[in-house]
Amino acid sequence: MALPFLAEAGSTPRIFNFASGPGVMPAAVLAQAQRELFDWNGSGLSMLELPFTGEDFKSVMWRAQDSLRALLAVPDNYRILFMHGGASAQFSLLPLNLLGGAERADYLETGYWSRRAVTEARRYCAVNIAASTGGTDFDRMPVQEELHLDPGAAYCHYTSNETANGVQFHRVPDSGAVPLVADMTSDFLSRPLDIARYGMIYASSQKNIGPAGFTVVIVREDLLGRAHPATPTLFDYRMQAEAGSLLNTPVTFAIYLAGLVFQWLAERGGVAAMECRSLARSAQLYRAIDASVGFYRCPVQPAHRSRMNVCFMLADSALTPLFLSGAARHGLVNLKGHSMLGGVRASLYNAMPDEGVSALTAFMRKFAEEHAHHV
Ligand SMILES: Cc1ncc(COP(=O)(O)O)c(C=O)c1O
Repeated sequence: MALPFLAEAGSTPRIFNFASGPGVMPAAVLAQAQRELFDWNGSGLSMLELPFTGEDFKSVMWRAQDSLRALLAVPDNYRILFMHGGASAQFSLLPLNLLGGAERADYLETGYWSRRAVTEARRYCAVNIAASTGGTDFDRMPVQEELHLDPGAAYCHYTSNETANGVQFHRVPDSGAVPLVADMTSDFLSRPLDIARYGMIYASSQKNIGPAGFTVVIVREDLLGRAHPATPTLFDYRMQAEAGSLLNTPVTFAIYLAGLVFQWLAERGGVAAMECRSLARSAQLYRAIDASVGFYRCPVQPAHRSRMNVCFMLADSALTPLFLSGAARHGLVNLKGHSMLGGVRASLYNAMPDEGVSALTAFMRKFAEEHAHHV
């Protein structure tokens, strides 16, 4: 008898998961992992049982890294690292690895996550807030003319997509000769990138990469070897680059799953195709919000709205719990906004089926009709 999940894989799922992370996984990838759980590649061993020092796991690791390099056209002078500790660890590891004796770094303050990065960086260096949109509750990203950059900064950090606030950069800030560093945790692999514009990019894995467990760091080679002497060996970018991210036991199962997601992505047209889909799907959702004549409201200025995390409020906030429970009954789950900000947040990562967005907009219209007297 087919296992229940296998019977469903490939068909339209009835539950649509809008979680901000860990987020929705491609059904085809889960089905493949289910098949291979007991017997990976005819080895008679589960992927969970492969020693990380053996050739089998190493081939999984190299394939995942090569696929990622191909997906993003990562130039040869950049190293791809799979690191422990989530993107939050990078908030500290970045200054530890890139200050290299300098005492200052630029940060763009654009929402909840960049603020967290700033707080952590202040433990290691003087932070210059090169721009902040906090004055208008992070309803947009700063424009280039607003940036007050410090030419003596070791690097300039920004968050390409603010997962909690639903605001996204749709252009790459220019930091001149200062290496640009981006936290791309929540929009990584959602569009093509010109990697050469960056000194470093990092993204934890539980959004568009799929499984929670590790953080991708893509770093230009000339920035390696600057780590503060007190940096733990495990978190020294150069040491990890030299060891092929195998300094200690990596999160083998998450890396295996990520490799399957990269393959899934490549088979579906790669990041250019993902960008087209995310443009169309986020536009569909924002249209539904804007067409509700005030029943729903997106606090983010239209030109800066995130294509990955669509955040909106109900005009009558007392209706929000009813909206969320009604949505869940329709199979539209994990729509609750960030705990600090409230409201509703629909995360539209690559693995979200288009039908999920259509089902959500249909539910939103119906809910607004039924409760229109509240506006
Ligand atoms: C933009 C951004 N940066 C950093 C983080 C923190 O990631 P982690 O939980 O992997 O430390 C998140 C988590 O959602 C995020 O969205």
